[in-house]
Amino acid sequence: MSVKTDKLLSILKLQPVVPVLMIDDAATAVLLARALVAGGLNAIEITLRTPAALEAIRAVADEVEGAVAGAGTILNAAQFEAAIEAGSQFIVSPGTTQELIDVANEHEVPLLPGAATASEVMGLREEGYEVMKFFPAEQAGGAAYLKALSSPLAGSLFCPTGGISLANARDYLSLPNVVCVGGSWVAPKELVAKGDWAGITKLAAEAAALKA
Ligand code: 3PG
Repeated sequence: MSVKTDKLLSILKLQPVVPVLMIDDAATAVLLARALVAGGLNAIEITLRTPAALEAIRAVADEVEGAVAGAGTILNAAQFEAAIEAGSQFIVSPGTTQELIDVANEHEVPLLPGAATASEVMGLREEGYEVMKFFPAEQAGGAAYLKALSSPLAGSLFCPTGGISLANARDYLSLPNVVCVGGSWVAPKELVAKGDWAGITKLAAEAAALKA
């Protein structure tokens, strides 16, 4: 196993659920990340879908003790570089392109690339990837689909994301090829808008307690 895969696995194995966040303002990101860390979710994915995302990654990386800040929805090399510059310790992409593979090869920060079919997984294996994001998990076929990949594609590990909640997370976590799941359910918009950090810590603690 490569050093980068090791690094990625050590981050993903910190907890059963990686929160996937859409952040509108960087100051809120710090409070939200503190609430998630207090509940036991240390690795946090901040998606580059809002103008505040890079500033939020920087703020969480600098100011939140115990947080491992990562960047999600990275679609190209420029975003990859910017996310690293902001302090991301891991990078997540919904799919895979040659551009992303190439830029990832130039950096020590690990990439969790997206795959949703056997062919995509095989392509990533050829590039040396052993750990991938299975996206969009529920819509692509769910836990049954991922289970079906486990025997022919033994050795590949996944972080399924997309449509996962407390109700179905265990279906994935019990699979031999799942390291952790990702999801936005631990940081609902309403609770963030109200600044209900205790409520978010409670959701995080429930998620952190999930076991296979
Ligand atoms: C995403 O990138 O949108 C993640 O997969 C989060 O999906 P969710 O909101 O369904 O948890």
